[in-house]
Amino acid sequence: MNSQLTGTDQRHLRRALELAEGGRGRVSPNPLVGAVLVRGGEVVGEGWHAELGGPHAERAALEDCRGRGEDPAGATMYVTLEPCAHTGRQPPCAEAILEAGIARVVIASEDPSEKASGRGPGILRDGGVEVELAAGEEATAARLLNQPFRKHARTGLPLVTLKLAMSLDGRTATPPGDSPWISGEASRALVHRWRAESDAIAVGIETALADDPLLTARPEPTEPASGAPYGPNGSIRRTGARRTGAEVRQPLRVVFDRWARLPLDSRLLRTLEEAPVLVVVSSRAEAARTAALRDAGAEVLVAEGVEAALGDLGRRGVTSLFLEGGATLAAAFRAAGQLDEARVFVAPVLLGAGARRAGPLATAGGEPDRGPRAGGAGMGGVEGEPWPAPSAPPASGAGPERLSALSRSVDSVGEDALIVARFKEW
Ligand SMILES: NC(=O)c1ccc[n+]([C@@H]2O[C@H](COP(=O)([O-])OP(=O)(O)OC[C@H]3O[C@@H](n4cnc5c(N)ncnc54)[C@H](OP(=O)(O)O)[C@@H]3O)[C@@H](O)[C@H]2O)c1
Repeated sequence: MNSQLTGTDQRHLRRALELAEGGRGRVSPNPLVGAVLVRGGEVVGEGWHAELGGPHAERAALEDCRGRGEDPAGATMYVTLEPCAHTGRQPPCAEAILEAGIARVVIASEDPSEKASGRGPGILRDGGVEVELAAGEEATAARLLNQPFRKHARTGLPLVTLKLAMSLDGRTATPPGDSPWISGEASRALVHRWRAESDAIAVGIETALADDPLLTARPEPTEPASGAPYGPNGSIRRTGARRTGAEVRQPLRVVFDRWARLPLDSRLLRTLEEAPVLVVVSSRAEAARTAALRDAGAEVLVAEGVEAALGDLGRRGVTSLFLEGGATLAAAFRAAGQLDEARVFVAPVLLGAGARRAGPLATAGGEPDRGPRAGGAGMGGVEGEPWPAPSAPPASGAGPERLSALSRSVDSVGEDALIVARFKEW
């Protein structure tokens, strides 16, 4: 039953939401979940899903409660996602809640997975537990917390978040001889954090050729915000634990490269021990080139177009894809209807006429599939047709393509402005 909660209920659910953050970047493809146990107005247990394969939030909270020498029987459990009823990497939480004699469970959001969808709450009700599903602000926050999990559960595809940096004169690439960076240091540090929170990072081959990027996540060690947990197995680290580089999960690095042009001596392929590389090629790519990529240690995925590639990534358990450009690949995702969120830094610089405009994002889609360009990155390129200018107008017949954000925020990050726009909600 959907309920308007009391102020006390809302406060405990907000704490559960805060606890859920402790699993960010560590539990995918599982959702982020936090739980709080309250008896007689007192918090008697807290927990969160901290590691993939580790205890779920509900069990962690029960364990924490018992660790404090308390009996959870008769308590209310506040949990950000409906308790599971299936045995996966862990036994079902609904069972643990019944066994513990919990009297009431307040749930912030439903689980859209086929194997869940109401089964856990049903089992609890049948077992005599009072179950309430939150509505309002906390319910929305709980859904937003798990957008990658929710999209993946509903469509089988990863959530796609575009990151782009642009200058005040609308350029997304710097001219030759200039620094490759458009955004400032603080923005770039944030990007590393976002990478560490993503299952995969993707770029188009032109970005790989132009920038020879590493695409690994190298976030600054951070002090958890006051009260925010970072601890193994649901234990709360109450003092100054730092998140070190060793705890960072490296995302899968994906290059969209129809003609298998990624150079074998690229930094991506020279750092396979740090994180794997997946190259998405067309079935028409030269067999010798794809074989060379495989021999170099890359995984090669043959897929035509954005959606097919996303479907394959989803089947591998990739729930979030951080799309780092360039603008041509971003336009292809946009044309495929696969941009869920955009995070755009606008830097207070003018890059001038020698730099490239952000044109393609406004066109009908990615570049047409005409075959490899001449001079394929030092790998014996095949002559191809000349390519359209990046800012070419949409193909004739293309109608208006405006896509308005469902929600947006604007913040300052160092000297840059950061606009976050959400286009879809799952
Ligand atoms: N400002 C920023 O945030 C930012 C971010 C990243 C890059 N950049 C800059 O952007 C420039 C590169 O951007 P770009 O727009 O030229 O290229 P891009 O988006 O990096 O790569 C485009 C290429 O991706 C390949 N591709 C593979 N599958 C595709 C598909 N389904 N649809 C469309 N393309 C597909 C195509 O080459 P094939 O046909 O050969 O596969 C296409 O030419 C670089 O200068 C880089 O420094 C800026």
